[in-house]
Amino acid sequence: MIAYLHLWLPRLLTLTLLLLNLARSQNLDTIETYGSKFFFSDNGTQFFIRGVIYQQVPSDDEQGSVATNLARASADDLYVDPLSDAASCQRDVPYLQRLQTNVVRTYGIDPSKNHSQCLEEFANAGIYVLVDLPAPGLTIGNKNPVWNDALYDRYTQVIDAMHNFTNLLGFVVGDNVVQGIGQDDAGPYIKAAVRDLKAYIRQKEYRAIPVGYVSDIIQGNSNVIDPVSKDAWQYLNCGNPNETIDFFGGNAVSFCKGSSYPSSGYKNATGELSNYSIPTFLAGYGCSNGHERSFDEIKAIYSRTMTSVWSGGIIYEYFKQGPDPGYGLVSVAGSEVSILSNFADVSTNMAFVTPTGTSSASYQPSNTAASCPEAGATQLPPNPRAAVVSAGISSTPSTPSTPSSPSATGSSQLPQPATGGLSTGAKAGIGVGVVVLILLLAAILFVLYKRKMAKAKRKDGTKNGDQWNKNELAADSVDREARGYNHMAASSPRAEMEGAMLDREVAADRPIVEAPGDSGIRTEMPTKRASVSAPTEISQ
Ligand SMILES: *[C@@H]1O[C@H](CO)[C@@H](O)[C@H](O)[C@H]1NC(C)=O
Ligand SMILES: *[C@@H]1O[C@H](CO)[C@@H](O)[C@H](O)[C@H]1NC(C)=O
Ligand SMILES: *[C@@H]1O[C@H](CO)[C@@H](O)[C@H](O)[C@H]1NC(C)=O
Ligand SMILES: *[C@@H]1O[C@H](CO)[C@@H](O)[C@H](O)[C@H]1NC(C)=O
Ligand SMILES: *[C@@H]1O[C@H](CO)[C@@H](O)[C@H](O)[C@H]1NC(C)=O
Ligand SMILES: *[C@@H]1O[C@H](CO)[C@@H](O)[C@H](O)[C@H]1NC(C)=O
Repeated sequence: MIAYLHLWLPRLLTLTLLLLNLARSQNLDTIETYGSKFFFSDNGTQFFIRGVIYQQVPSDDEQGSVATNLARASADDLYVDPLSDAASCQRDVPYLQRLQTNVVRTYGIDPSKNHSQCLEEFANAGIYVLVDLPAPGLTIGNKNPVWNDALYDRYTQVIDAMHNFTNLLGFVVGDNVVQGIGQDDAGPYIKAAVRDLKAYIRQKEYRAIPVGYVSDIIQGNSNVIDPVSKDAWQYLNCGNPNETIDFFGGNAVSFCKGSSYPSSGYKNATGELSNYSIPTFLAGYGCSNGHERSFDEIKAIYSRTMTSVWSGGIIYEYFKQGPDPGYGLVSVAGSEVSILSNFADVSTNMAFVTPTGTSSASYQPSNTAASCPEAGATQLPPNPRAAVVSAGISSTPSTPSTPSSPSATGSSQLPQPATGGLSTGAKAGIGVGVVVLILLLAAILFVLYKRKMAKAKRKDGTKNGDQWNKNELAADSVDREARGYNHMAASSPRAEMEGAMLDREVAADRPIVEAPGDSGIRTEMPTKRASVSAPTEISQ
């Protein structure tokens, strides 16, 4: 047996490197949904979105028509894939970091392009991507909705292109498409798409990537909930879970300078969605109705009052583009980035947000899915792929050849065993090396096993873990305590204070604006508040 050690050694070495690599490539953890919240898969910490829309219009689009229409995904114009140009991602990462961004949402990507470098840049900066599936001209449509072969191809191609990135947060199947939930409205078409795309993800054995829907939740400048949007979020959440969305994102542009939690409609929307059974967040926020923007809504969005219902929000938008005044936090020209005035409003407000939420281990989802509205369609359009197959039309096979598995790749790359005689000393050295390697392997396998078990435990919903032996449980909880699992906020008294202050303002329904008579230097205000007014407010 000893004689064959020199044959095992290279294999063991390769296997060890492979496992180490596996462990390292997981450094940006996937996000999963559980109940009405998002969690880091590995450690069960709740995940809050601090996002920004990230999509530039084609530079020759002077009128900005694509910028305005892309959200509705109905323009015929070409679009710029924001995740395929490594140089621009690299250029923007430092600015996204200054904005405390951990999610970028894209309205349209080109699945034929290579997104590895951008996704890696973002992963290194702790940034996830939320990817809309439609493209201009390739959308389900709100007037004469379709769910056809072309759309199925487009949407599944985007899924194929993005599924393997651990910092992919999820897919958006449509934005503001649903104008009704009756048999001929877009509602059932969106639901059919969700059904088929979730089935596709399962069939391809991708991870359970969330698939969701977005719409405008508040009417114009008012505090009034859009009834069509409410119908949609309830309808898309009701019935067979194989057909329902995994998250709902609300666009809300009603919180302007001088608005308050109630007057913006945020309070209304929070009440409406407080019993919703899946995660919800603001999918496009920032006053965009002709009034002045101050981004004071950030204080409300990340207050305890709102984070008990919402998982944060996504700002509309990163790039300034289209006709003036336009929106945007920066303007870019080639490799140059210029910061615009709202950039400071966002970054100073964001500097104080530290929502803590709950952990998946201590969270018991209690909200139940909506019951299906009477008026809602009960029959969904068919799977277009199934229709094509049954009509006998030959099409490209829906199951491309499966990618080679890591183990297959691994074994084909094993180095050739060394041949020829070895000295006794070399053999002894190999012996020691093997023992070290085996110990190392055992340690790595143990760590991976523990991670997997911890994950499986949460998946099980086993909070108190009857079926786990006591020793393991005790070790696990000590581990968590040691990592500060339940004491995250304690490490940041200043953030805690600021958080408490925001909550008091939100709870008291006071306008979240600076006191009258302030100098109007908006970028300075949050700092001043933190150092001057916070202690007095706290001691009240
Ligand atoms: C994408 O580009 C990266 C390098 O930036 C390369 O390593 C990778 O193989 C490419 N992926 C595909 C599918 O071509
Ligand atoms: C998925 O990602 C892993 C590592 O991150 C890589 O080894 C594997 O080849 C990828 N698979 C596909 C199908 O791209
Ligand atoms: C909430 O919205 C409804 C209509 O959807 C409106 O009548 C009501 O005034 C709003 N309430 C508050 C407290 O904003
Ligand atoms: C959901 O889909 C799975 C897998 O296809 C199936 O086994 C299950 O019965 C479906 N559930 C319902 C309620 O239709
Ligand atoms: C949630 O509350 C709203 C408003 O109070 C109500 O219309 C809706 O039916 C409730 N949904 C569920 C699922 O209970
Ligand atoms: C959980 O993991 C995430 C991402 O890796 C990290 O940001 C967070 O701080 C971790 N939480 C704890 C309590 O360690």
